[in-house]
Amino acid sequence: MPARLQPSAAQPQATPPGPAVPVHVGIIMDGNGRWAAERGLPRAEGHRRGMEAVRQAVSSATELGVKYLTIFSFSSENWTRPSEEVQLLFALLRIFIQSDLADLHEKNVKITVIGADEGVPKDICLLLEDAERVTANNTGLGFQVAFNYGGRDEIARAVRRIAPKLMRGEVTPAEITPAMIAAHLDTAGIPDPDLIIRTSGELRLSNFLLWQAAYSELVFLPIYWPEFDRKAFGQAIDEFSRRKRRYGGLATASVAG
Ligand code: FPP
Repeated sequence: MPARLQPSAAQPQATPPGPAVPVHVGIIMDGNGRWAAERGLPRAEGHRRGMEAVRQAVSSATELGVKYLTIFSFSSENWTRPSEEVQLLFALLRIFIQSDLADLHEKNVKITVIGADEGVPKDICLLLEDAERVTANNTGLGFQVAFNYGGRDEIARAVRRIAPKLMRGEVTPAEITPAMIAAHLDTAGIPDPDLIIRTSGELRLSNFLLWQAAYSELVFLPIYWPEFDRKAFGQAIDEFSRRKRRYGGLATASVAG
């Protein structure tokens, strides 16, 4: 160890740090269909069990000390699935909000929806707006539901929000910085994810939080989403805490240090 890093005899020894807990975790919930197929069950059952796993993820996030949780609930590309499956995913979201909103509110969870309204049934938009309104002043877990969401779409939306300001002369081209773009994303005000978890063994981001994932640690779990539980969440956090984050620099501090 270089001399300058050696603790001096006079200094008290620091308590070894426990696993570093990510402030913000994003989850790509993948593998509902394969989970069902391997068990000879209909895909619908995989999605239904996936909804149970969402409940596990929310309660585990709070217990583990995570401050923000973002789930990829329905992507802007999921419209290409058969319409019965799209309708089922919508129905599950309705059930989830209707049955769990009171409990989430009671647990001080703040719900934010990210994604586009276009094409989403009106009743779902109203349910989601209601969930945001009811929980707006909560101070516990920030729970972002990415619904009808795509990272490229979100960046395009941010540009469309900036463009009128530019045209009115309120903003100059030189003022369009990464910070300004971030402040016009759907996730404005929410820190970037420290950790993104994807289940099912697939190794890609699939258009999830593209801008925000610039320096996220990625953990790919070899389980299907319906199998996700507190233990799996803890394993992903353990893996995260062993990573060394450098943000393009040279420092070698681990996330725990
Ligand atoms: C991926 O499994 C999952 C989805 C496309 C959507 C996630 C939906 C849920 C977890 C159910 C309900 C959610 C809420 C918030 C109520 P897949 O169908 O792509 O699985 P496969 O790749 O094995 O076919």
